[in-house]
Amino acid sequence: MKKIMLLSATVLALAGCKGDPQLGKDSVDKVLKAMTLEEKVHFVIGTGMAGFGGESAVVGATKNIVPGAAGTTYPIERLGIPSIVLADGPAGLRIDPTREGDENTYYCTHFPIGTLLASTWNQELVESVGKAMGEEVHEYGADVYLAPALNIHRHPLNGRNFEYYSEDPVVAGKTAAAYVRGVQSNDVGTSIKHFAYNNQETNRTGNNAVISPRAQREIYLKGFEITVKESDPWTVMSSYNKINGTYTSQSRDLITTVLRDEWGFKGLVMTDWFGGDNGAEQIAAGNDMLQPGTDLQYQQIMDAIKDGSLSEDELNICVRRCLELVARSPKAKGYAYSNKPDLKAHAAVTRQSALEGMVLLENNGVLPLKDVKNVAVFGCTSFDFIAGGTGSGNVNRAYTVSLLDGLKNAGFNVDESNKEATLKHIADEDAAFKASLTDQLSAFYPTPRPSELVPSAAELAASARANDVAIITFGRNSGEFFDRTSADFSLSAKEKELLAKVTAAFHAKGKKVVVVLNVGGVIETASWKSVPDAILLAWQAGQEGGNSVTDILTGAKSPSGKLPMTFPVNLMDHASSANFPIDSDTGVYFTNRREDVGQKDVDVTKYEEGIYVGYRWFDKQNLPVSYPFGYGLSYTTFEYSAPAVANDGKTVTAKVTVKNTGSVAGKEAVQLYVSAPAGTLDKPVKELKAYGKTKELAPGESQELTLTFPTSELASFDEEASAWKVDAGTYTFQFGASSRDVRCTATAEAAASETPANRVLLMK
Ligand code: BGC
Repeated sequence: MKKIMLLSATVLALAGCKGDPQLGKDSVDKVLKAMTLEEKVHFVIGTGMAGFGGESAVVGATKNIVPGAAGTTYPIERLGIPSIVLADGPAGLRIDPTREGDENTYYCTHFPIGTLLASTWNQELVESVGKAMGEEVHEYGADVYLAPALNIHRHPLNGRNFEYYSEDPVVAGKTAAAYVRGVQSNDVGTSIKHFAYNNQETNRTGNNAVISPRAQREIYLKGFEITVKESDPWTVMSSYNKINGTYTSQSRDLITTVLRDEWGFKGLVMTDWFGGDNGAEQIAAGNDMLQPGTDLQYQQIMDAIKDGSLSEDELNICVRRCLELVARSPKAKGYAYSNKPDLKAHAAVTRQSALEGMVLLENNGVLPLKDVKNVAVFGCTSFDFIAGGTGSGNVNRAYTVSLLDGLKNAGFNVDESNKEATLKHIADEDAAFKASLTDQLSAFYPTPRPSELVPSAAELAASARANDVAIITFGRNSGEFFDRTSADFSLSAKEKELLAKVTAAFHAKGKKVVVVLNVGGVIETASWKSVPDAILLAWQAGQEGGNSVTDILTGAKSPSGKLPMTFPVNLMDHASSANFPIDSDTGVYFTNRREDVGQKDVDVTKYEEGIYVGYRWFDKQNLPVSYPFGYGLSYTTFEYSAPAVANDGKTVTAKVTVKNTGSVAGKEAVQLYVSAPAGTLDKPVKELKAYGKTKELAPGESQELTLTFPTSELASFDEEASAWKVDAGTYTFQFGASSRDVRCTATAEAAASETPANRVLLMK
């Protein structure tokens, strides 16, 4: 409240002064010089946020610019500084869909989750999705889109993996860069997040990630480095956690030395919402903007300036970057947004992009469906499709197409005999769950998936007689604030029973069963994957999900998605399982509730596995996996030939020809892995360095793909020397259909090189 009054008082007192420089007309320098200390400190923090009680709007004079946006910047009318609007992402713009006293609606398109986009292995397509998202940002009056999110999938149970891309930094970085280019082509900004090491939700605002400099640089920072260098995002959002003892938002090593000095980032850094614990240290670190802004931060900065621990010059550096951001925003340019983005066109974008990221895991001759008219659907999720995850990554969409509706839209006769009972069961369990929640954070709890209903043997036999095929959907939801549990990773007893009984009934009649996984992250598959006839990993495919799945099932498109992470046999096979807060005593618990539950030590997460994350670990240990990184089936087959690699010392250029040797059209994602010669540093068996996707190849058609990357990317980080080192010798380049399906190889020589880096971000 105090804050709102302060804001209005300042605006009133200063509005209307003659001769003040104006942002946009006068230089940033001039405007900066004209600002009072108080204005500067207000300006680097946001305009505050109301309590959690359902009111998601920004408080103060800027509250209603775009209702439901995550934050706004502090306006200074006398200097012509408008308030700009920051709104989530990443699966689409998150704003309120309706407004008081306004008949219009403000729904946004719910696009596929980040993990699905990464599974397309198609940077051009991701860019086109970004372009559509950015149009909604622009036309709904927001200025900076708080997306994309690209933290590494260090462990399958991280609750926000669905927003993130991959266990591999090249996939994460390339996907994010394409996304940023697409969004920013609309003259709006992005905020790549969460910089960095935000790999768990458990105690996320207090957790200290203890990570070796090598693992930081090669795994956790690399994706951000690629994104900064290849797409020039307007802003970066620092994360909640600490790195080796320091909050990332207060780490000058991270935000200034690495991000700006080493990578050349020129934009603005903002905190995650309420992140860190010291506003003055954030400013000193080069974290330019504090969101959503608190009175405490105002005081901390003022006190530090008064006692000399922070200089006004240091503050000015951040103020200047805030001014530069505001100056380039649509708001400052007076863009007359329409509030009418092309939602119809974007529905088509989400439908098309979703089907390209779905991964066919198994196919025993059942797909694409042939001679099928009557379809039986099972599993609650078939009727209640999950468009995306919860928390700030949710989108207020107008509708979600369920699998049931998708199949009906395509003209199938869908057996709806269990529809009503299932919908009632879902609603009952949902209501019971909501009634069980009492605390003020209830709005954030993801509703657990309903327990499965298993029809009787007689019902199943009748269904198998009447229908040509059965489809079972298993769903998983997750979201911000909570890590997943090991129970969520496995199929429940009811799910297993449903799978076994439906399969037995349909197989008894010589009919097939397809499982659709409507999930946001990795689940256990090894124990049951041979039971059904096909498994389609649909991910959470946005609001058109049911239509996209149907397009794959019917063969309107051949699947071409591939896994951006490993599906392990057992959860504990991941090296990171030794240091991940799996199954806290309460199952799920909220930020900073550690003391309440007498939790084992979750304040520190030691990344003892170092660089051995995902396939790097499984390959090193030669461990069996359920599905390897990069895996995905198609309705056609591809042959790789004529591999060639050249290294001119600056760029590695790899070529391979891909031919469609099957009988239907399809696209193929080709992965380029490198194995280094034995040298001074321990090296992974192989590492992904580049990838590309063919166009849709007709049967018999070929395409030569050219994949390139900078020679310097052959380096590993030598901690002793604090330098990126390329060892001299012969490098083997492997063209893979997956990380465990290498189709051909070529070699090239590289000379030794060493590029020094700052000795920072050390473990204490
Ligand atoms: C999330 C961010 C999000 C911000 C604003 C935070 O809780 O971690 O990803 O952008 O809220 O909604």
